[in-house]
Amino acid sequence: MALCLVAALCVGASHAHASRPPAAAIATAHPLATAAGKDILSAGGNAFDAAVAVSAALAVVEPYSSGLGGGGFWLLHVAASGRDVMVDGRERAPLAATADMYLDADGEFVPARSLNGPLAAGIPGAPAALAHIAERYGRLPLAASLVPAIELARDGFEIDPVYTRLARWRRDAIAASPAAAAQFLAGDAVPAPGTRLRQPELATTLLHLARDGHDGFYGGEVARLLVAGVRAGGGIWRLRDLAQYRVVERAPISARFEAPTGRWRLVSAPPPSSGGVALVQMLHMLSGFDVAALAPADRAHLLIETMRRAYRDRAEFLGDPDYVDVPVARLTDPRYAAGLMRNFRMDRATPSPPPEAVRAEGADTTHFSILDTDGNRVAATLSINYPFGSGFVPPGTGVLLNDEMDDFAARPGVPNAYGLIGGDANAIAPGKRMLSSMSPTFIESDAEVVILGTPGGSRIITMVLEGLLAATGLDPTAGGGARDWVAAGRFHHQYLPDEVVTEPDALSPAVRRSLERRGHRLSTAGRPYGNMQLVRWRRAQRQVEAASDPRGIGAATVIEAAPAATVSNHRRQPQTQPLRTTP
Ligand code: DON
Repeated sequence: MALCLVAALCVGASHAHASRPPAAAIATAHPLATAAGKDILSAGGNAFDAAVAVSAALAVVEPYSSGLGGGGFWLLHVAASGRDVMVDGRERAPLAATADMYLDADGEFVPARSLNGPLAAGIPGAPAALAHIAERYGRLPLAASLVPAIELARDGFEIDPVYTRLARWRRDAIAASPAAAAQFLAGDAVPAPGTRLRQPELATTLLHLARDGHDGFYGGEVARLLVAGVRAGGGIWRLRDLAQYRVVERAPISARFEAPTGRWRLVSAPPPSSGGVALVQMLHMLSGFDVAALAPADRAHLLIETMRRAYRDRAEFLGDPDYVDVPVARLTDPRYAAGLMRNFRMDRATPSPPPEAVRAEGADTTHFSILDTDGNRVAATLSINYPFGSGFVPPGTGVLLNDEMDDFAARPGVPNAYGLIGGDANAIAPGKRMLSSMSPTFIESDAEVVILGTPGGSRIITMVLEGLLAATGLDPTAGGGARDWVAAGRFHHQYLPDEVVTEPDALSPAVRRSLERRGHRLSTAGRPYGNMQLVRWRRAQRQVEAASDPRGIGAATVIEAAPAATVSNHRRQPQTQPLRTTP
C-alpha cells in the first residue's frame, strides 16, 4: 500500500467536519493551570478563552517555564471556519541589539551574557498574544480569563518539587537580581516544596493587562518600570521596543501523509519556529519506507538519519521569515527530501561534517493542549527559555524576563545552550525574532484529531515526531492510547553534536548494539526529558482522551458534555505499508 505525503503551506480552510466532540479536554504541565482552564470553560469560555487562562496561570505557577516576560506560539483551529492559524508571540531582539553583542573583545562567544540578566532578554510577546487571542477569538473578555491567574499570584500557591530543583540550578542568576530574589527565593535559600509563593507585583501587572489589554503591558506604568529596571540592570530595552511589539498571525505548515491508521494531515508551527518545516522534511524522508514494519533497530536508525538531515537544514536555512528568505517551499518539497536521502544507508550512520554555509536543553518551557465541545483546538508551546529565564525581574513588575536571545546564533557555527548551531539566517538583528524549536502541532484524519507538543529545547521537534509516529501507528511499539504516547521512550539526533541522545530505557540493549555497529555514537540523557501534553478526539468512537506526560507534574482532564468514556487503551491492529512520496 502506498503512503502519500504532500507538503504544502497551509492556506485557507481544512475540510470541515460536522461532528462535535462529546467532551472538552485540557492537558497542561501544572494542575492549577488545568484547573484555571476548566473554570473558564465552565464559565462559558471557549478553547481560546481557556488558552488565555491557562497561559496566564502557567505564568504564575510555573515561573521556571514561561510567563509574561516570555513568548510562545499558539496554534489555533477555529471550528466554525475550519481555519488553522498560528499566533506568533515570539520575543524580538531589542532595537539596540547588534550581531556581535554576546562576543568579547577577541570575538569569542560569552554564553553567560545571553543567558543571565537583562541583556539576555528579548522583548516579550506573551502578553500581546493573550490580549490578541482574547479579543480576536475568545468569547469572554480578557479580564475574565485572567481572573484565575490574578488570584493565584495574589493569594499564592504551594510550590512544587520541580520549582525547587530548577531554582537550585538557577540560584546564582536569580540571586543577582534583587527583585527576582525577593520573589522566588527565601533570603538566600531556595524554598522547599510546599512553601506558599505569593507574587503581589505580578498580580498588579496582570491587573494592568486585564484592565487595559495590550497597552496595559506595552505602555504606561508597566512599560516604564520594565524599561527602567532593564536599563538599570545593564540591559538595552527602550520604550520604543515595547510600543512596537506586535503578534503576527502566520499560516501554519501542513502536510498530508498516510499511516496504518489512515490518511492524516499534519498542521504545525511555521518559521520563526523550525518545527513544522523539520517535521515535514522528516516525514518526507520516511517516505518509501515501510516504517511500521521495520525491525526496531532499522526504524531507530532510519529516524536518526532523518533527524540528522533535518537539523542540518535547520542550522543553515531557518530564521525569522520577516528578516530572511526561508526557502520553505523548497525545504518541504518531497523531491528535495529524496535528494537528502540519496546517501542514506541502512547499514551505516552518515557522518555530520560542519555545514559549509554555517561558516562564519529539559523540563522548563511549557506546552498545553485544549479541545472544546465546539471542536475548537489550541496547541501552545510557551517559553522563557532557560529555567527561570534570565533570572532577572525589573523591580516593581513581578515579571521574570526571558533569556531567549540565546536562541540566536551569537556566532556562526558556535553552539547555543542546546548545542544548536546556526548562521546568517539566525544571526542577531534589531527587532528580529530568534529561531525556535517550539512545535505546537495538530494531526488529524477523518477518524481522529490529536493535539500535541512538549518543551525540551532542541529535542522538541524529535519528540513531536516520535509522538506523531506513535499516534498514527507508524511506530507500532508505542501503544494505542494517549497515555502510552506521552510516556513512550525518546531518542534524539540534531546533526551536531554527532550523537544519539536517548532516555535511559528508550532503546533495548539489542537496538543500542545494532546502532553502534552501524557507527552511531550513543549517549544516555542524565534524566528523562520532555513534558508532552496531548489531547485526542476519536470522532468515530465519540470519545475524548487527554494525557499529561508522567515525567512531569501536569494534569489532564476530560470534561464531559454528555456521558461518555474518558480514557481508553485501545490497541490498533498493526498494519504495514511502504511509504511513497507524491510531489
Ligand atoms: O524556543 C526554543 O526553541 C527554546 N527557547 C525552547 C526552550 C525549551 O524548550 C527549554 N526546555 N527544556
